[in-house]
Amino acid sequence: MINSHNKLKILMSRPTIIAGNWKMHKTIQETIEFVQTLSLKVTKPSCQVLIAPPFTAISHAAMAAKGAPIMIGAQNMSDVDEGAFTGEISLRMIKEAGARFVILGHSERRIYFKETDEHINHKLRKASSEKFPAIFCIGENQKEREAGHSEQVLKTQLDKGLQSIPVKHLETLMIAYEPVWAIGTGKTATPELAQETHVAIRQHLANVFGSFFAEKVPILYGGSVKPENINTLIQQPDIDGALIGGASLDVKSFTQMVLS
Ligand code: PGA
Repeated sequence: MINSHNKLKILMSRPTIIAGNWKMHKTIQETIEFVQTLSLKVTKPSCQVLIAPPFTAISHAAMAAKGAPIMIGAQNMSDVDEGAFTGEISLRMIKEAGARFVILGHSERRIYFKETDEHINHKLRKASSEKFPAIFCIGENQKEREAGHSEQVLKTQLDKGLQSIPVKHLETLMIAYEPVWAIGTGKTATPELAQETHVAIRQHLANVFGSFFAEKVPILYGGSVKPENINTLIQQPDIDGALIGGASLDVKSFTQMVLS
């Protein structure tokens, strides 16, 4: 059924985006095999197909995806261009390797590597100043949801993460709503709950950046997305795709989700 929201989705031509976040999985060889297999299966997808392998495999993934409708990206980057920052990788470096997007603010970066909203804001400023596509992840944890604070937490992450970035630099931004309690746990948000939360995110973005931007920005859902539940999620009018961890590692299940 096409309701007014769905009409808006079509009118604003928000693409459907299916993105794989491989985290710390797959060697170069495993990456090449995956991307080659996927390229043969996915020749004319009805969605945008994105994969973020580990840094070491980006250039090989990009070469293996040449000519195929698959965009390769990075899972993180530094907020500065170069310098004495052991272990860091810059935007220029990921671009050179063949990355065409970057995931920023993932909850695992926030929790295990202590990335703050401020730090994430610096990374988002860097990416947006070069109009480099970024998937900006936000999400509440279980405690925050149970206490009824989810919306406030999400608003704060959005406000702090996007602070001082002019809306004209946000053309290439994507948002991923990833409730921390749903990541890697097998507990997916129900399509209704995810839809409701996406509406709240879009509403807040409309208040801050205007409704034109809010209706245009793709908002992906992430957290235990798999072939069995992807359809009911992305059929929701405000869910524009999925950011997938575990189920993106298997080429069969990822292909199934891309083609579904
Ligand atoms: P999951 O991870 O699909 O394994 O829950 C999603 C993510 O962390 O992006």
